[in-house]
Amino acid sequence: MSASPSDSLWWRQAAVYQIYPRSFADSNGDGMGDLPGITSRMSYLSALGIDAIWLSPFYPSALADGGYDVDDYRNVDPRLGSLDDFDAMVEAAHAADIRVIVDVVPNHSSNRHEWFKAALAAAPGSPERARYHFLDGLGDDGELPPSDWPSHFGGGACTRVVEQAEPNAGSLGQWYLHLFATEQPDFNWDNPEVREDFHTTLRFWSDRGVDGFRIDVAHALVKDMSLPLRSKPALDILVDDGSDPLFDRDAVHEVFEGWRSVLNEYNPPKAAVAEAWCPFTDRRLKYARPTELGQAFNFDLLQAPFDAAEFRSIAEKCLSEAAASGASSTWVFSNHDVVRHPSRYAFPDGSTRDDLEAWLLADGATPALDLARGVRRARAATLFMLGLPGSAYLYQGEELGLFEVADLPAASLQDPTWFRTDHKIKGRDGCRVPLPWSATEPNLGFGGTPWLPQPEWFGSLAAAAQDGVAGSTLEMYRAALSWRSKLQAEETLEWLDSPEARVVHYRRPNGWEVITNFGDAPAQLPSGVDLSKVVLSSGAPAVENGTGAGGATIEGETTLWLAP
Ligand code: NOJ
Repeated sequence: MSASPSDSLWWRQAAVYQIYPRSFADSNGDGMGDLPGITSRMSYLSALGIDAIWLSPFYPSALADGGYDVDDYRNVDPRLGSLDDFDAMVEAAHAADIRVIVDVVPNHSSNRHEWFKAALAAAPGSPERARYHFLDGLGDDGELPPSDWPSHFGGGACTRVVEQAEPNAGSLGQWYLHLFATEQPDFNWDNPEVREDFHTTLRFWSDRGVDGFRIDVAHALVKDMSLPLRSKPALDILVDDGSDPLFDRDAVHEVFEGWRSVLNEYNPPKAAVAEAWCPFTDRRLKYARPTELGQAFNFDLLQAPFDAAEFRSIAEKCLSEAAASGASSTWVFSNHDVVRHPSRYAFPDGSTRDDLEAWLLADGATPALDLARGVRRARAATLFMLGLPGSAYLYQGEELGLFEVADLPAASLQDPTWFRTDHKIKGRDGCRVPLPWSATEPNLGFGGTPWLPQPEWFGSLAAAAQDGVAGSTLEMYRAALSWRSKLQAEETLEWLDSPEARVVHYRRPNGWEVITNFGDAPAQLPSGVDLSKVVLSSGAPAVENGTGAGGATIEGETTLWLAP
């Protein structure tokens, strides 16, 4: 392995590429991406210039939630390969100087996990049931759910079971908690056996050479299950003080302190990043403390409109948060849970999340999107973000400028949201369509007939179609990641004045400058900007305006990088 193994801080400013394994590359022609498929594309990943890959779950699963319903935390789904294939992939990644992060899903298992099967077979009050949250129902006969808690994908968060153990075998009995799909029962994190088992899982993958972990719904593990359960008809966190019964409770931090001890058994210590959709930053940063996970995703830029003041204030806030906690900041625009950002940025200004969902439901027919603008803004936003201190999390296909596939045939949809909302919310399949590798090969070079159909227009964005094409999004990402690793500097920046509010300008300590024009018309560049230092542009290169008065202009919705 050559991925500088002793560098224990590699993750602080890494470019991490998220792979959704089922949709990346299919090596055996069954239509589902797999681990050998990832290994086969290692040279592509290496040429892209990323520092690490993060794999969404590849564990045995019935795929009730795309693999986030895990049957066995210490194995590989046979459709995606074997443990030997995993080892081969890690070896190939390390040989290419690419680190490997895997997803851990600790809030819930699948309903096919051995422990849950044992819990169903056991009686109420048994140790088997105590690994999950089994509760008696309300009402005369326990026929009412024990809480009004909704699940994230629609419907209630409690499901009643048919008892299997005597004397009540065959009759309706207790209820179990699942904050997500019915097939995803929540673990009881007050149970030391659950805690110990996840330590075993962390060691299992660490021993196999992984370099870090991404922790799914990290803020949900510890819950207040004291009876009667408190009412919570909506899932959003309403109070920023740790008193919510389900999310972001103070006691969750003991769990991650324990994890840090396990991760620190290794040299270098394993990295970790929390997925914690906590809106309140002074609480969110706790997950990222050096005594816990080191990083937590922040989804602020992802949720923000493409706007100069918003982007700057988010960057300032997140960087000061990170500095205060000792963490390094994270940035992300797209992942497997959200509409791809070139599509988001193509919506009319002022559009809301509801508008995005209505658009998906209308198969992308209304509103008509301004796709050219969407991709222009996405490229500018990417260069704005890649210049910032901290780690950039990129989602497979964004380097190709892929848009969301809004018009997947209803029969192909698989997201549990679609089913649990009675087809009122379409869900996340549109960002999970298998990648286009080559316009001229069957199934666009993905492998077998893809598990979600690729639209015809995917071909024009295929990797091979952009390879070596000046100005293509793929070449922009490659150039940006290459410059980024050369220009990487201390984790600070200085904001510089600019003559126009829509232009944001910052400089890293080594003189690396980033200038973004968030407006749609050309803007005057700050005085003193030396255009001969421009090494990269997200759009058309900046031009001298020839007046001699204001220096030069920057095109609308464009980012420039200047190297010292
Ligand atoms: C967050 C994951 O990113 C998402 O895909 C999944 O559905 C939920 N957690 C539940 O595991």
